[in-house]
Order: sequence, then C-alpha cells, then structure tokens
Amino acid sequence: MRIPPLLRRPRWVAWGISLFLLLLTACASPQNTFGGQGDQARTILGLYWLLIGAALFVGVSVIALLLYAFFRFRERPGAGEPKEVHGNTALEFAWFLIPTIIVLIVAIPSWRTVFRFGQAPPPNALQVQVVGHQWWWEFRYLDYKGADGNPLVSGNELYLPVGRPVALTLRSADVIHSFWVPRLAGKADANPGVTTRLTFTPLETGTYYGQCAEFCGLSHALMRFRVKVLPAEEFERWVQSRQAYTLPPLAGEAEKGWQVFQARGCNACHTIDGTNARGIIGPNLTGIASRDGVAAMALPNTPEDLARWLRNPPAVKAGSKMPNLNLTDEEISALVAFLATLK
Ligand code: CUA
Repeated sequence: MRIPPLLRRPRWVAWGISLFLLLLTACASPQNTFGGQGDQARTILGLYWLLIGAALFVGVSVIALLLYAFFRFRERPGAGEPKEVHGNTALEFAWFLIPTIIVLIVAIPSWRTVFRFGQAPPPNALQVQVVGHQWWWEFRYLDYKGADGNPLVSGNELYLPVGRPVALTLRSADVIHSFWVPRLAGKADANPGVTTRLTFTPLETGTYYGQCAEFCGLSHALMRFRVKVLPAEEFERWVQSRQAYTLPPLAGEAEKGWQVFQARGCNACHTIDGTNARGIIGPNLTGIASRDGVAAMALPNTPEDLARWLRNPPAVKAGSKMPNLNLTDEEISALVAFLATLK
C-alpha cells in the first residue's frame, strides 16, 4: 500500500497527534459542557450533538459531491467543450427541499428548547437569589430564614439538593456578570437593575465548577464559584447547621483573631452568622473554613494562601474591593487561626 505523502513527514504527524491530545485535555476539565449533570446541560448537549450531526452530514455530502464532480468530469484529452445544462426542475427542487428539511430538523428542537427553558419554574423549586459582585458571588436562599429572620446567605459556594428543581433569580450589584456552571446549565446574565431567571435540576451529587462568563473588569477571570449538589438529607443538615450557627468556643490565637477581626473593621464588610459582624459589602464568611477556596476560588483554601490574601488582597486579585489593611504578621496569623474555626 502506498503511504499518503502527508503521513511520510513524521514532524507533521507528531504535530497532528499533539494537537489532538491537546484538544482531548479540554474534555477532562471540571468545567466543560460535556458532563450533562443537570437537566438543562443535558438538553443543551443533546442539541449540540444534533447540530454537529447536521453539520457533519452537510459537510461530508458537499465535499463528497465536489470530489465526485472533480474526478468524474475532469478534462480529458479530446473530450471537447462540456455540454451546457440549463433549467433542470428536479435538481432545482431538490436543492430547495433538502436544505429546508435540514434547517427545520435543526430549528424545531432549538425553538422548543428555548421555550421550555423560559417556562415558569415548578412550584416545588428551591428559590435562590444570585447576586454578582466585582468579583464574587452571593447566594441568598429565599426559602430558608436564618436566626435573624433574613434569608440564609452563602458566598461563592452554592449548596443545592440533588433532584430538586432550583429557580435562580439573578441580578448584579454593579456591572453585568454571567452565571455559568457548564456541567449543570446554560449561562444566565446577572444585570444591574434587571432580574433574569435560570431554572434547572441538578441530577447528580458532586462539586461543580462555575465561572463568571461576561467580562466584568480587572479580575473577571478570578470570579469563580462552586456548586455543591448534596443528597437531600445532607442539604437539610447544612440548612439547619447554618440556621443555628454560632461562633465555636475560641481560645488562644483564634480568640485573638476574632478581636483583630472586630478591631480592624472586617465586620464592617463581612457577615458571620450569629455574631455582631453584619457587613454586606463582601462575602458572608460563615463556614469559610469548609470552602474549596478563598477570594472567590482565586486561591486554594490553605492557611498559607489565606495569609497571602490577607497580606495584600489587590496583589492577588487586581482591583479587589478588599483593601490592603497593612495587617501585621501577628494579626494575619491570628485571623487565619480564627477563620479556620468557621466550619
Ligand atoms: Cu463577573 Cu466577569
């Protein structure tokens, strides 16, 4: 068998394989649209394959016909001028009908999906308000009141029970953001002054990566979050623990940290449930010790990274609204010890 000329160049083959492997790595990332762990993501994925199928059918058919025409009707010695064809009703009808059918095959399921996503949420849906901020996310659980009578709030981690529809209402505290958890649902913009909606049902428990998908300023790329989909009982336990939340008994460094937290005015911007820290400028810090990351997942949640964040927030996240308070090393390690107790 003859080896095609392209494959006789090992460097080209190596480049091709590398590119293919590079593309494959995109499939393994925690933040991709091929997971389908939410009903909406699954429906969108189905549409995606339908579109890819239709595009492949058109592409392959056109190229095949083209190649056929190239070889079948190529110029041969002594063949003379080709015969002119004019007005073939059957052909003209076919190239009107086939594209129309293809467009309908693609358009009808797309329309149906768009209308289905726009329907009012079912009455048993969990109501959560999502507020986008530069550069973090606030989640308010409207069905569950905390000890102070206000809805429970979490920062940068959205907790959901598996199998129950969730009705998100989204808005923004400043500029336009976009809420996106690729494995669970499509994107929904969070706009200032306008409320948008996103309804979906998480189908599998797990931790899902989310990301702001609309350029919203310097640290847009660091406006990340997680969605934790829990078994129903575990979600109930989380709600109850948050409703009854109080500070754990503090001693030593941690107690010193709580003093620093108040003396340095951290409580003016942050809330810790069950305490006099009631600030709403920054994320609610209740339970921060059990989060996957700090600074809207810009850093992993380790004592070293938390200390790095506290030492100079704008150096970690350009434009951060949390200022550099010029905390001393002692203050930072006391704060880190205190925040580690907020489980
Ligand atoms: Cu918020 Cu991009």
